[in-house]
Amino acid sequence: MSEPRPAGRSHAGELRVAVLASGTGTNLQALLDKVHGRDGIKIVAVASDNPEAHALDRAHSAGVPTAVFQRADFGGDRRARDSAMAAWLRGHGVQLVVLAGYMRLLSESFLSRFPDAVINVHPALLPSFPGLNAVGQALSYGVKVFGVTVHFVDEGVDSGAVIMQRAVELPDARSEDDVLPFIHEIEHEILPEVVRLFARDAVRISPTHHRRVIVTPPADSSDR
Ligand code: GRF
Repeated sequence: MSEPRPAGRSHAGELRVAVLASGTGTNLQALLDKVHGRDGIKIVAVASDNPEAHALDRAHSAGVPTAVFQRADFGGDRRARDSAMAAWLRGHGVQLVVLAGYMRLLSESFLSRFPDAVINVHPALLPSFPGLNAVGQALSYGVKVFGVTVHFVDEGVDSGAVIMQRAVELPDARSEDDVLPFIHEIEHEILPEVVRLFARDAVRISPTHHRRVIVTPPADSSDR
């Protein structure tokens, strides 16, 4: 039987992580607080499409290099913008790219440079409610269970293979204010958790089912 295909590039020692963010950056902050400089993980670069993103201030405060890649600076050419961003990240030795509130779709010119090594956090239980305003979509639908998904990124909208999901039952929720604090709490837990899994090379895509992600348990858990 063939070995499961490793997700991400193999890495010796520290896992070098980049974060892409367009806005507030609370997920970036959770990564800076919980995994940066620990567990064999270093956040080495933060990039944005938005020069006003508060995420950039958070990166500066942590001493992490930043760059802004706006489509307008590349003659409106998305592929050219993405190629430049990929080259900048590769220049920083990035092995895993984390999208944390990054509001642009990434083109093949970017994704092909980081095979099986780009992940995203989405505030819904995919495949329900992909795209913008996921919590609003879920409220309009009238769901009783909300949640968060961390998944691989492909060229579609929140359509890559699922790595981790966590749900919260909120049967009486009526507004985003009733839901968002729970969603953020979950995001700030499971996104660092997934990055830790990559650092111990524990994430695999099944060789027989391209959408199935296998998380291998720590070596010392086999006799429990
Ligand atoms: C998060 O809710 C994330 O799930 C979504 O965008 C939001 C980013 O929030 N993709 P922040 O900028 O990390 O605070």
